[in-house]
Amino acid sequence: MAKDPATVLVTGAAGQIGYALVPMIARGVMLGPDQPVILHMLDIEPAAEALNGVKMELIDAAFPLLRGVVATTDAVEACKDVNIAIMVGGFPRKEGMERKDVMSKNVSIYKAQASALEQHAAPNCKVLVVANPANTNALILKEFAPSIPEKNITCLTRLDHNRALGQISERLNVHVSDVKNVTIWGNHSSTQYPDVNHATVSTISGQRTVRELVGDDNWLNSEFITTVQQRGAAIIKARKLSSALSAASSACDHIRDWVLGTPKGTWVSMGVYSDGSYGIQPGLIYSFPVTCEKGEWSIVQGLKIDEFSRGKMDATAKELIEEKSLAYSCLE
Ligand code: NAD
Ligand code: LMR
Repeated sequence: MAKDPATVLVTGAAGQIGYALVPMIARGVMLGPDQPVILHMLDIEPAAEALNGVKMELIDAAFPLLRGVVATTDAVEACKDVNIAIMVGGFPRKEGMERKDVMSKNVSIYKAQASALEQHAAPNCKVLVVANPANTNALILKEFAPSIPEKNITCLTRLDHNRALGQISERLNVHVSDVKNVTIWGNHSSTQYPDVNHATVSTISGQRTVRELVGDDNWLNSEFITTVQQRGAAIIKARKLSSALSAASSACDHIRDWVLGTPKGTWVSMGVYSDGSYGIQPGLIYSFPVTCEKGEWSIVQGLKIDEFSRGKMDATAKELIEEKSLAYSCLE
């Protein structure tokens, strides 16, 4: 039997991530090739004409799965009955800016949009915050939309996860899909900790650890980590714009795995509320290794954490605690 359409909200849809993301959703990359979608696109008044142009292009592309498009500058209309909300709207970091510089502009948007989502989205709507500072915007959204279950509010660190997979695959000259179980801990920022201690590669002789195959702990504990941490800044330097196609693709990966499940034996990284696992302050939106089944994520438990990892996991948690108080001071 044909599935009922799912309604997907993309905020900031006239921007560069939005432009890469909406055709992926309309093609079934996010929710699967048998799932019809209705797209709700929200942007602000100065971008209304450009947003309408994106709507025209979506119609012109004649996507078979696309059952409707709403382009609006009204948050209430945009949030109405949405099953999935991808929150991309906000101001991106430009060259020379630190993420904290975008904080004051963006957290107030997330406070305002929390109530529109809370009041008008479908029950059990799943929310993914992409706009930076992603973890703290998600935290503000969670705190100002208390009736949305906290397990439904997440932020994007899958891009960092995919970047870590990409770096390992380049280094070992193996296919990226043969590398698995890297973990991004913490904040989507330069304090994030990309951890390969449990990562493996499928080879013709079975599963081998990334540490064993790379054979260079010095590289893994220094250059690999900083390359992943600084990749967003490197893209901004090269493009004079922040990452867009990789961000859009990773957002699709995040939602697809959350809704349809992670493959057996594989985990991914998602920014989710901390329940105190691994000693991380409860309530923070922190990136953990998670598996997903039947539309629910769970944090992978029992991973051995050495002293090096502990220090890095605590440092990125500390930054998130500081961001939280900075965000509240911006909202005053
Ligand atoms: P962009 O400037 O091209 O697009 C942002 C869009 O948001 C614009 O069209 C703008 O008009 C719109 N917007 C601004 N305020 C809004 C509001 N209140 N409601 C709805 N829309 C609003 O930026 P971009 O390159 O698409 O990046 C979007 C965000 O994603 C930025 O904050 C960027 O830093 C972040 N980002 C996050 C990741 C991640 O991995 N988490 C990766 C890349 C970029
Ligand atoms: C990214 O990771 O590419 C984005 O979050 C851009 C940034 O500000 O680092």
